Amino acid sequence: MKSNELDWANLSFGYVPTDVNVRCTFRDGQWGPIEETASEHINLHMAATALHYGQEIFEGLKAFRGKDGKIRIFRLEENAKRIIESAKGLMMEPVPAEIFCEMVKRVVKANERFIPPYGSGASLYIRPLEIGISARVGVKPSSEYTFIVFVSPVGPYFKEGFKPTNICVMREFDRVAPKGTGRWKVGGNYAASIAAGEKAHSLGYSAVLYLDPREKKYLDECGPANFFAIKDGKYITPASDSILPSITNKSFMQLARDMGLEVEERHIPIEELDYVSEAAACGTAAVASPVAEVDDLDTGKKYIIAKDGKPGPVTTELYNRLRAIQLGETEDIHGWNTIL
Ligand code: PLP
Ligand code: COI
Repeated sequence: MKSNELDWANLSFGYVPTDVNVRCTFRDGQWGPIEETASEHINLHMAATALHYGQEIFEGLKAFRGKDGKIRIFRLEENAKRIIESAKGLMMEPVPAEIFCEMVKRVVKANERFIPPYGSGASLYIRPLEIGISARVGVKPSSEYTFIVFVSPVGPYFKEGFKPTNICVMREFDRVAPKGTGRWKVGGNYAASIAAGEKAHSLGYSAVLYLDPREKKYLDECGPANFFAIKDGKYITPASDSILPSITNKSFMQLARDMGLEVEERHIPIEELDYVSEAAACGTAAVASPVAEVDDLDTGKKYIIAKDGKPGPVTTELYNRLRAIQLGETEDIHGWNTIL
């Protein structure tokens, strides 16, 4: 693909081939050299633990072309830390943060021509992933691992972009268990969310809002994003040990505090949605995707949130502040960007 053939402003959230990806393998107790390759394929043993027992973890972060022409990677070190936690969760070999950061910087630099131009609204999505590659038939951790980082220029995750969409609650499926893998970025969590996600899409919803898997009383998160709401001028977001600690959500919590809002991370009973003035799904891919309405498919109850169908003022301000930092339009007072 030639980057000059890309229609930057109309990119969807999808895979676009780029020039290179970078790889590193852990073998004989150590991480080997970082390799660059143009191949989009992996030569994998058919008994690899990634294929049978789900030893697969990943990350998602973004690079932006700023107003000043510089390349900024958002919260690189936070993603490096999180994938270490995911690795520990599945007894995989953690990728040292220095290797993670070096590989991400290298793959972004090597694919510089695929970074969408400033003002296009698009960004370069960075997808690091780690897989267990040793052949096993018994359920045991691998002793060898491959870590790969590839990139793809992307547009908005929800095709509506920054427009409110409807999401739904259903009790028929859980994506994770109460003490399960929800706190890590594990491929299997997403496998477990596909049936519910497809059902939601077929009914016209952009995502599923999961309830806590133990009691099904409290809000947890969306399939690909955390959830927050604005209630009585406070930023509220679920505290739960079955959700992914979203770096975007943490950033919004800080920005909310910067705006003078109180932040509450706590259990949020689903009924509380009757009293919120704004709500959004938030994540690297989703950024902040305002929620118009949450429909409970089991009870028939509809929680109408964006009464005028427009994004609320606090969500809009949070979104604008985050984008301004990512694009270098405003001072990065929290030191979130890595400038290449
Ligand atoms: N929750 C889930 C299940 C996700 O897949 C993601 C996406 O990464 C998030 C939350 C948001 O996390 P972050 O803001 O770190 O991208
Ligand atoms: C992200 O926001 O980075 C994600 O991983 C969401 C997703 C596409 C699963």
